[in-house]
Amino acid sequence: MQIKLSNGKSIPMEMHKIKIVQQTNLPPVEARQRCIKEAGYNTFLLRTRDIFLDMLTDSGTNAMSDNQLAAMMQADDAYAGCESFYRLQSAVEDVLGFKYLLPAHQGRAAEHLLAKAFVKPGDVVIMNYHFTTSKAHVDLAGGKVLELYKPGAMQTVSDDPFKGNMDLDKLEEAIRTYGAEKVSYVRMEATTNLIGGQPFSLENLLAVKKITAKHGVPLVFDGSLISENAFFIHEREHPEMSISEIISEMMSVVDIFYMSARKSAAARGGLIATNQKAFFDQILPWVPVYEGFSTYGGMSSREIEAIAVGLREMTDLNVAGSGAEFVEFFVRRLVEEGLPVVTPAGGLACHLDALRFLPDVPQLDFTSGALSAAIYLVSGVRGMERGTVSTDRDENGNNVPAGVELVRMAVPRRLYTMSHIEYTVDRLKWLYEHRDLVKGLRFVEEPPVLRFFFGKMEAIDNWDLKLMEAFIDDFGVNC
Ligand code: F0G
Repeated sequence: MQIKLSNGKSIPMEMHKIKIVQQTNLPPVEARQRCIKEAGYNTFLLRTRDIFLDMLTDSGTNAMSDNQLAAMMQADDAYAGCESFYRLQSAVEDVLGFKYLLPAHQGRAAEHLLAKAFVKPGDVVIMNYHFTTSKAHVDLAGGKVLELYKPGAMQTVSDDPFKGNMDLDKLEEAIRTYGAEKVSYVRMEATTNLIGGQPFSLENLLAVKKITAKHGVPLVFDGSLISENAFFIHEREHPEMSISEIISEMMSVVDIFYMSARKSAAARGGLIATNQKAFFDQILPWVPVYEGFSTYGGMSSREIEAIAVGLREMTDLNVAGSGAEFVEFFVRRLVEEGLPVVTPAGGLACHLDALRFLPDVPQLDFTSGALSAAIYLVSGVRGMERGTVSTDRDENGNNVPAGVELVRMAVPRRLYTMSHIEYTVDRLKWLYEHRDLVKGLRFVEEPPVLRFFFGKMEAIDNWDLKLMEAFIDDFGVNC
């Protein structure tokens, strides 16, 4: 909820009380410099004991509610037929409207099952945009991903409220070109992650359905961030509709729903749901092969209970907006300070535009990688590189400059407070004012695939030491 203050400004309000806390630690700047150097300037390789605020991801890191924790205590552990599964099934039916449920241990496991069941070599899967794992499973099954977003989707500065929309003309054309029988499914990703957590509109989803239905192509919905997309539809398109109504309307056109339950559902796990028995029957045999029996799907019963409650809770407007409103505040504050950030604010994170933040660091010296290392050094806050390091080399071994060069500062739901955000804004501002001190990175250990996870680098001309000296001049050694 946004609360209007007497000075005319509004702030996001925490509509919850904090009853359990976890101590965090701000290591001094010299320790941070040692840690990031040891981590090869790769924030994935930091240990959480050395991190003050972890903004790497909102996946599996959200604060859980009292009711989720309480529900975990009634977990019913059984290899087959556990009551926890049936409680999740009821929640899926009540909130999403689907009768058939297939559990999976997380989102990518659901994607694996879908690819196994539906993608044949030579097929295409059409998406509003890919997510890393959603594309990997289509590729591994011998299919090809086609992304049909609007031209403006890649613009980091924009006032388009629905950059996640699918281009409907391109969709018609693609289905005609490839032939409906070659299109395994059309996948709409709620609050499109890799373009900055940008939603699609209800109007666009309904229009996509008209086209897929006409051609007999299944419509798959990645609902990992479903409550955020519903929240944006409420804010930007249909203020008269409740979150539940928006979710019901969205789900009424979906053939197969799946989600990572680590985000909107504020737990850890995943699921697939549908109302069509034929789709259920096609996927079911693969669940015990890859996940576990069909009433636990690789999840602990405790997490299944937490998801069941999390799904019901995310339909509350204050819960659905709990992350997005903090992201909006974070983005607004950075814009006020003149820092380059992706607009409009998206759903899971604030995204810094690294090429405008560090204009003198060439993309092939890994601008976003250098920026995420520098942010940790000056603040103890961990973000995630989403740029050229995350884009593996091409088949000739050349680096490929990423389409957008970003650093993602994720805002897990209900985890951080206003002072955490203000602190981060302040240190980002200080870094921006000292941006001439930051140079690029060079690989010293480079894995052949998904190098952003384990790759190690060095700082060109030891820029980290110069940045640390400037920081100590302003703040001393203890900050
Ligand atoms: N779909 C979307 C839209 C996601 O954001 C993710 C994960 C997945 C599928 C895969 O789910 O992690 O449970 O296997 N996103 C995480 C992130 C990894 O950090 O944004 P998973």
